[in-house]
Amino acid sequence: MAHAGTDAVKFAYWVPNVSGGLVISNIEQRTNHSAEYNRKLAQIAEKAGFDYALSQIRFTAGYGADEQHESVAFSHDLLAATTTLKVIAAILPGPWNPALAAKQLATISYLTNGRVAINLVSGWFRGEFHAIGEHWLDHDERYRRSEEFIRALRGIWTEDSFTFRGDFYRFNQYSLKPKPPQVPEIFQGGSSRAARDMASRVSDWYFTNGNTPAEIAKQVDDIRAKAKANNHSVKVGVNAFAIVRETEEEAKAVLAEIIVKANPEAVNAFGHEVKNAGKASPEGEGNWAKSSFDDLVQYNDGFRSNLIGTPRQVAERIVDLKRAGADLILLGFLHFQEEVEYFGKHVIPLVRELEGADQAASLAAE
Ligand SMILES: Cc1cc2nc3c(=O)[nH]c(=O)nc-3n(C[C@H](O)[C@H](O)[C@H](O)COP(=O)(O)O)c2cc1C
Repeated sequence: MAHAGTDAVKFAYWVPNVSGGLVISNIEQRTNHSAEYNRKLAQIAEKAGFDYALSQIRFTAGYGADEQHESVAFSHDLLAATTTLKVIAAILPGPWNPALAAKQLATISYLTNGRVAINLVSGWFRGEFHAIGEHWLDHDERYRRSEEFIRALRGIWTEDSFTFRGDFYRFNQYSLKPKPPQVPEIFQGGSSRAARDMASRVSDWYFTNGNTPAEIAKQVDDIRAKAKANNHSVKVGVNAFAIVRETEEEAKAVLAEIIVKANPEAVNAFGHEVKNAGKASPEGEGNWAKSSFDDLVQYNDGFRSNLIGTPRQVAERIVDLKRAGADLILLGFLHFQEEVEYFGKHVIPLVRELEGADQAASLAAE
């Protein structure tokens, strides 16, 4: 069983830069994908104690998200509107190549005092690739390409006269100037075996779908053991959809309403697409292999982390996820601005209290 680190658990929120929020449901959401809404949200979040914001990359609609603002440009705008928040921009190999991404991110890092990070995603949506004329590689080939992408980014950002001979990318004595003031942190999404193997070799952070502490601990143990064998270390971020209300009944009623008002055709079509994307992996699984209809109403199984209840219940469950090995909790909300503020006021202080108690107990036990 994995053990918690001593660092305070970090908090990130999903930037709603695509329309329709983070659930495939017709429930009313006071969330909006406009720049104005998002700038204000980023300012609220950094004041509330959030460390990171994660923006999303989508090229087309699919099961919601009729409109999608581009992730790197949008992230830069949020960085310009804030002073301490780090913003993670999503990059999809295929449409992006590492030369452009390295150059673009180095400049954004320079402009924003080193606060930009990236989330290297590997793709799950074949229809999107088809729509933009990109080759749809097999599951493990996508990860092989992503790993080369990450190795190329690191090389370009840290070496002069960088030479790389990959199957997907090639560089010849390339010197990027100026280098970024800080090498951007590299996050990645995905829980399949290929995703974990990649994390254990090259990523700084492994993002995974929502799950119970016991299931998270299994993944953490697996990737930490592999990373150790590779002389690498990787931190873990766990997705969750938070519904925090004064009473547990209220919070559960909101969850029930989200699910009752789900759009069944869109949820089933999304489930079909993501399960197929995972089935193409050699082990025939992937991120959403065990997701039920209710789970799939939230894009990344966020209900499974069960941050649904009172501030105290939610704080306790966050600390349980930390004990299972989570270094960061990535959060989605129904009404982002109001709920991020509420979370900062009522949940984060309790988490810090519980973390302090854990630390005192472990010191006493030494
Ligand atoms: C936290 C998180 C964020 C993600 N963000 C995006 C995104 O913005 N765009 C995208 O196309 N895929 C995104 N993905 C999908 C992953 O890159 C990956 O394709 C998917 O999780 C399939 O993983 P698997 O290999 O485990 O089946 C995200 C995944 C996670 C866990």
